[in-house]
Amino acid sequence: MAKTGLMTWILYSTLFAALLLNSDAANANERKVHIVYMGDRPKGDFSAKATHHSMLTSVLGRSSSAQESLVYSYGNFNAFAAKLTEEEVEKFSEMDGVVRVIPNHILKLHTTRSWDFLGLSQSNVGAQLQGDVVIGLLDTGIWPEHESFNDQGLGAPPSKWKGTCQGANFTCNNKIIGGRYYNSENWYYEGDLKSPRDSEGHGTHTSSTAAGDRVPGASYYGLANGTARGGVPGARIAMYKVCWSFGCGAADILAAFDDAIADGVDIISVSLGSEFPVPYDVDPIAIGAFHAMKYGILTSSSAGNSGPWPYSVSNYAPWTLTVAASTIDRKFVAKAVLGNGQAFTGLSINSFELYGKTYPLIWGGDAANYSAGASQDLSKYCITGSMNSYKVEGKIVFCEVLWDGTGVLLANGVGTIMADDEITDFAFNYPLPATQISTSDGEKILDYIKTTENPIATILLGETLTDYMAPYVVSFSSRGPNPVTPDILKPDLTAPGVDILAAWSPIAPPSIDWEDPRSVDYNIISGTSMSCPHASGAAAYVKAAHPDWSPAAVKSALMTTATVVDPNKHEDLEFAYGSGQINPAQAIKPGLVYDANETDYISFLCKQGYNTTTVRLITGDNSSVCSSTLNGRAWDLNYPSFSLAVEDGKQIDGVFTRTVTNVDSANSTYTVQMYSPPEFSISVEPEVLSFSTIGEKKSFTVKVGGGFISQQKITSGAIIWTDELEQYRVRSPVVVYNVLPGYTFFPPQTSKFQKKPTTFHGPTTPSMQHKNGILGRN
Ligand SMILES: *[C@@H]1O[C@H](CO)[C@@H](O)[C@H](O)[C@H]1NC(C)=O
Ligand SMILES: *[C@@H]1O[C@H](CO)[C@@H](O)[C@H](O)[C@H]1NC(C)=O
Ligand SMILES: *[C@@H]1O[C@H](CO)[C@@H](O)[C@H](O)[C@H]1NC(C)=O
Ligand SMILES: *[C@@H]1O[C@H](CO)[C@@H](O)[C@H](O)[C@H]1NC(C)=O
Ligand SMILES: *[C@@H]1O[C@H](CO)[C@@H](O)[C@H](O)[C@H]1NC(C)=O
Ligand SMILES: *[C@@H]1O[C@H](CO)[C@@H](O)[C@H](O)[C@H]1NC(C)=O
Ligand SMILES: *[C@@H]1O[C@H](CO)[C@@H](O)[C@H](O)[C@H]1NC(C)=O
Repeated sequence: MAKTGLMTWILYSTLFAALLLNSDAANANERKVHIVYMGDRPKGDFSAKATHHSMLTSVLGRSSSAQESLVYSYGNFNAFAAKLTEEEVEKFSEMDGVVRVIPNHILKLHTTRSWDFLGLSQSNVGAQLQGDVVIGLLDTGIWPEHESFNDQGLGAPPSKWKGTCQGANFTCNNKIIGGRYYNSENWYYEGDLKSPRDSEGHGTHTSSTAAGDRVPGASYYGLANGTARGGVPGARIAMYKVCWSFGCGAADILAAFDDAIADGVDIISVSLGSEFPVPYDVDPIAIGAFHAMKYGILTSSSAGNSGPWPYSVSNYAPWTLTVAASTIDRKFVAKAVLGNGQAFTGLSINSFELYGKTYPLIWGGDAANYSAGASQDLSKYCITGSMNSYKVEGKIVFCEVLWDGTGVLLANGVGTIMADDEITDFAFNYPLPATQISTSDGEKILDYIKTTENPIATILLGETLTDYMAPYVVSFSSRGPNPVTPDILKPDLTAPGVDILAAWSPIAPPSIDWEDPRSVDYNIISGTSMSCPHASGAAAYVKAAHPDWSPAAVKSALMTTATVVDPNKHEDLEFAYGSGQINPAQAIKPGLVYDANETDYISFLCKQGYNTTTVRLITGDNSSVCSSTLNGRAWDLNYPSFSLAVEDGKQIDGVFTRTVTNVDSANSTYTVQMYSPPEFSISVEPEVLSFSTIGEKKSFTVKVGGGFISQQKITSGAIIWTDELEQYRVRSPVVVYNVLPGYTFFPPQTSKFQKKPTTFHGPTTPSMQHKNGILGRN
């Protein structure tokens, strides 16, 4: 059967974004938003605004035009965003002190039992400490009146907080302590609200996953009924709305990072990313996260929904936490039952009750709307607009591909049974009774329809099954290797991101039909967008326990304590799950951490081929220097995992230097255990590390050696430091793989992997649904 359905959707959405971006490219005189980066930031008494304004005036001629054109003056980035013509862009590019002018570009959103599944019980949670932690989210906004964001029991915001609440009809409380919005292009489409208020649902969902309050009796039409809660219900939320129905603008993302740092957030959660790999110095999330890191803020980001293809991972900078999506032990299914008693279980979050009543069952191919230009070949897929309502009305329609259900719904059908093998590991919610069965079951249903005089069927209300296979990384979760720095393993870890129940905006559609008029308070959706706030919540949990820990220490704690994921369920091993599944309860007691600071990351960048000029683009700091462009590998960045990329036909041979800091037990002795596969061996020197004080650091080297490598997609082992009482297990995966032929290890500016995978198995995020809806109907 054809697999065009969902892929066509996704293609449409990508095209739509591309059209938006390029629609005015034809007119060179039209002003478009650009980010102008300066190399130096004068110290001391310096007004960024005044300087940027005078620079603009000198190019644009008049002070008033400069005023109009300026979009943002970034305080932390030595940059501004302004609306410029192509000619003006050229003038700025040639100006002294300007290192680069980047056109604004658009990034994409990536889309409760999960905390219990992770072993973080409600009683585990130390609420007082959490009250000082602020999670800043860059997303679609938030619904402030939602029950999940009530501020019962929360005191005033922490005294360090400098954030604010902007926009009409948007009020903060002691849970949501900040709300800002950014739309430099002034692109407002139907449904976009000019305030931090969320009309898409995505930002409300991610916020409540990270830090929502406990709400009993939360469900999606009774499904997944239980207590909904965030990982840190006592923590505060600040929303930075950068995503709109068209996507999320790079200039806006940078502005949001800038404000979040100044406002005083502790953790930044970014469930969005670029669609293709870009070097660090043009990636707004990498740049923003670097600045956040300088100010002690960890950025947690989604790995992307472009899996399972290799090199598909996004947000791969070593100073950010990159989160894959995995399942929890719950699966949503709905049964289709035929008149002859045969029942087929399919994937669906089916909120509709037909009370066992049966309806005539037809094949979509028999219901083509010929006057609309459709044929049997189209209507068998039940594509929107291809169905004949005379044939479909009052019936259940069998369709040969997964679709959003609107084809049958708009032709007044009762329900739909869709056969598709493309997606087998997560479920969608539909605007009508629906379920998605396998193609082999589909053949049986087609057979029943063709051999029965009056075929009938019903679709049962959705139910939940226990998924004993959990956790496993879902197919759409983006995979490593790292497309830009092959010697840094990405993703870093995995967290629940499949069929997650969390808060929803009451004005956002509750199913994948963007015109679905129903309103819900909670919704069940999937994506690395959903796993990212789980990791952000876990990071906040660690930060609450250890307010003085650096971003690298928090990240290390999450990685080295992660629960090992079963390699037998993943042919791409760590490229799917990184160090494993987050285990927040353990992450507050990691024993040892792999710490790193700004100096370490700059040295890393210099070794990657960046020079003083290009490094300053990322650091925004005049004092950053690459003494010489060192052609080195990333092996010495103090990273909590090990990755060795080997060219085809070369020998496996790498030496890594690492330093661990003792953070838990003053007097302790750690011994290393090494696990290696047949393909390579690991040796560690020294094998024993003794500590007598907290904060003490000890260094060691890890040697990885083996034979010649060929066509090795990935092979992996691990090293584990354990103390004598076995209270702490500090585990790091060691990954060896064959890098693509011809890959250069020092790609200063451009990656070889600019090309997107040609197919896409992602779930639809709300923003995509939006566009699908618009285009699907045309
Ligand atoms: C940048 O650093 C150089 C020395 O490396 C110094 O001479 C110069 O004044 C600095 N510029 C600013 C704007 O701070
Ligand atoms: C403010 O928003 C709420 C929620 O959408 C709405 O019910 C109310 O009418 C709005 N008030 C104004 C003045 O727009
Ligand atoms: C959810 O469960 C609670 C407690 O078991 C029950 O009172 C409530 O009616 C349920 N809600 C729905 C919508 O099924
Ligand atoms: C067939 O499609 C046309 C054009 O979309 C529509 O106006 C018409 O109502 C459809 N006919 C039936 C019977 O569904
Ligand atoms: C970063 O850490 C290194 C040791 O790893 C230390 O020498 C350096 O001073 C630190 N830099 C900053 C900016 O704290
Ligand atoms: C730094 O690297 C960039 C990009 O590779 C290059 O254009 C520039 O000339 C380099 N600058 C110096 C000072 O070497
Ligand atoms: C650690 O051990 C040393 C020597 O054995 C001892 O003097 C010191 O008090 C111990 N420190 C702690 C915190 O137990």
